[in-house]
Amino acid sequence: MKTGKTPEETKVVMTELVLPGMTNLLGNLLGGELMHRMDIAGALACMRHSNAQVATVAVEALAFKHPVRQGEMVSVEAKLVWTGRTSMKVKITAMAENLKTGALIVTNVAVFTFVALGENGEKIPVPTLLPETDAEKQDYASEEQAYRSRHKK
Ligand SMILES: CC(C)(COP(=O)(O)OP(=O)(O)OC[C@H]1O[C@@H](n2cnc3c(N)ncnc32)[C@H](O)[C@@H]1OP(=O)(O)O)[C@@H](O)C(=O)NCCC(=O)NCCS
Repeated sequence: MKTGKTPEETKVVMTELVLPGMTNLLGNLLGGELMHRMDIAGALACMRHSNAQVATVAVEALAFKHPVRQGEMVSVEAKLVWTGRTSMKVKITAMAENLKTGALIVTNVAVFTFVALGENGEKIPVPTLLPETDAEKQDYASEEQAYRSRHKK
């Protein structure tokens, strides 16, 4: 199997200007538009890690804490936090930046799970993630514990 990457090496950031076609009647970025970008950024981080095609298998609690307004810059950052046998968990953070004031606000944080797929759509093993910092090691350990308790039942 290929050597794993560090969370930092998997990081993907997608940045875009919020335009009228992306918003609701109040001028706020549509939830579905944001979820689409989170899904793509997460998939790219997982593809970068696994060098394989991936499919979204689960999305953990996704709350919309603050709107992203038309004319703001929306950034979506995705970084792997844990790898299993064929699955990968990726933390995705969405941020809105007001370009007039420079104010930056985190609008959403969610954890998505993707599964790596081979050429014929079959599940394939992924390299083990190599957490480096204390925070990354802590996140990895807590996801590992959650995985183990899920598979005990
Ligand atoms: C992804 C898919 C191939 C997985 O197949 P499956 O037979 O259900 O797979 P398994 O139950 O063996 O699970 C595969 C991995 O996903 C993990 N997984 C499955 N469901 C999960 C869930 N709800 N939450 C977290 N992880 C989950 C399993 O723990 C396993 O991880 P591991 O290999 O690291 O131990 C299949 O469910 C599928 O095709 N789903 C549709 C995907 C899709 O269309 N996504 C949207 C478009 S990309």
